[in-house]
Amino acid sequence: MARKNSYFLHYNILLLSFLAFSFLLIEGVPENALITQIPGFNGTFQSKHYAGYVTIDESHGKKLFYYFVESEKDPTKDPVVLWLNGGPGCSSFDGFVYEHGPFNFELGKTSESLPILHNNPYSWSKVSSVIYLDSPVGVGFSYSGNESDYKTGDLKTASDTHSFLLKWFEIYPEFLKNPFYISGESYAGIYVPTLSYEVAKGIDAGVMPVINFKGYMVGNGVTDDIIDGNALVPFAHGMGLISDELFEEVTTLCNGNFYEPASNNCSDKLNQVDQDVVDLNLYDILEPCYHSKDSTVISTGNSRLPMSFRKLGETERPLPVRKRMFGRAWPFRAPVREGHVPTWPEILNGVHVPCTDDRVATAWLNNEEVRKAIHAKETTVTGPWELCTGKIHLIHDSGSMIKYHKNLTARGYRALIYSGDHDMCVPFTGSEKWTRSLGYKIVDEWRPWYVNEQVAGYIQGYDNNLIFLTIKGAGHTVPEYKPREALAFYARWLEGKNI
Ligand SMILES: *[C@@H]1O[C@H](CO)[C@@H](O)[C@H](O)[C@H]1NC(C)=O
Ligand SMILES: *[C@@H]1O[C@H](CO)[C@@H](O)[C@H](O)[C@H]1NC(C)=O
Ligand SMILES: *[C@@H]1O[C@H](CO)[C@@H](O)[C@H](O)[C@H]1NC(C)=O
Ligand SMILES: *[C@@H]1O[C@H](CO)[C@@H](O)[C@H](O)[C@H]1NC(C)=O
Repeated sequence: MARKNSYFLHYNILLLSFLAFSFLLIEGVPENALITQIPGFNGTFQSKHYAGYVTIDESHGKKLFYYFVESEKDPTKDPVVLWLNGGPGCSSFDGFVYEHGPFNFELGKTSESLPILHNNPYSWSKVSSVIYLDSPVGVGFSYSGNESDYKTGDLKTASDTHSFLLKWFEIYPEFLKNPFYISGESYAGIYVPTLSYEVAKGIDAGVMPVINFKGYMVGNGVTDDIIDGNALVPFAHGMGLISDELFEEVTTLCNGNFYEPASNNCSDKLNQVDQDVVDLNLYDILEPCYHSKDSTVISTGNSRLPMSFRKLGETERPLPVRKRMFGRAWPFRAPVREGHVPTWPEILNGVHVPCTDDRVATAWLNNEEVRKAIHAKETTVTGPWELCTGKIHLIHDSGSMIKYHKNLTARGYRALIYSGDHDMCVPFTGSEKWTRSLGYKIVDEWRPWYVNEQVAGYIQGYDNNLIFLTIKGAGHTVPEYKPREALAFYARWLEGKNI
């Protein structure tokens, strides 16, 4: 009898653990993550939206936040694309709100009131399902119960995001068969190849579930210290921002090495170059920029931005392009180097004050009703949502991305390297140069590409499915400036068509 009881007890414990386990599994299923209404939006959702947290370290309570927009075309077949903004420290709601998300955001009556949301005719969800992920932990709505997790590096970020993907696909197994792509811009020029490499390695090692990884896309991405570091001077010359004389002198004195000036004479000339370009909007040399000569930094609200910056969104456009600094966070003319990469709040105390406007996103994402609707934790848990946070401390420990691009393209993964050609932050001259430096045969020689019978930019196609593409007149965050053209190249590339 006693024996029987113990069996019974044992069985019950098994049953209980089974139930508890199922409960854990059920916790994240799409039904709980489905978004049914969004404050500020009175229209009809064009597809299903889901959002929530994926815990990647139970013991620390380390949680990454995602917002998943299903494709409006055929979610059962269309590609699934992960989108990552850079910084480091910038939330992927940057892309969601300002670039290629399902909504266009109209500023409310005051800076603080709820924005009005409209369907975005150029949303990337027209042709694909998109996962917007706040990464690394500490960014956007992602948070950890243990703040030591906010100290991280490129490699740790890649392995964390890989863990996220494996768990995400367990929650959404119906998307495992869809082609999967990884995309991002700016400092995600580091996140995308390092993560792609982790994913590819996982596939080779038989890690489950098997991700149907096909390729990746990088926009105005940080890639290589030296090549990116040398890109500004030829850009400034080609764009007519510095004189022929200065270009010749600086090239001679620096011996073509602008990245690490070898002499004072070289440094002096480089300072002259800086003087010529310093008052331009770094993110789009055609857009106006606010300069900080009389700025007073305010400490109220969610950002420490100068009050005068807040007027910056006011242009004649109905949905103005921001004049802003976000997306990069390293000193002018000095690209990412090994070691600690400063976040933008750190840079704000530096000499080069950014042009910025993040009102719409800040007002929307700090509204508690909005947070509730999209399943983000309250402000008391995650702190205020910031477009780019200074909370994280990230070490650039992955070196040049060229070795990653070589490995991934040689293994057959498709790569699209695109560049807004009026961005001075990560200028196209660098991206053009490093893509060429891989030494692949040109299979689609430099030519214009078109949208609506207009030249939208230029393309050079290489062997191994590597494409370098410019978007004419676009700045650092391409879809923000050229949403129609961005959707066009994105859709064509995903379909495997000629761009
Ligand atoms: C949205 O609907 C609510 C409730 O019907 C209404 O109060 C609000 O004015 C509407 N907003 C817009 C922008 O149409
Ligand atoms: C946070 O994590 C670190 C590293 O795992 C650990 O040493 C530390 O004790 C943790 N702190 C708390 C408060 O749990
Ligand atoms: C560097 O500048 C100094 C002072 O103007 C000059 O004497 C020297 O010749 C210059 N060196 C080179 C290599 O041009
Ligand atoms: C890519 O890297 C992996 C892992 O380090 C290695 O096994 C493989 O041979 C590399 N492939 C190519 C084509 O370089």
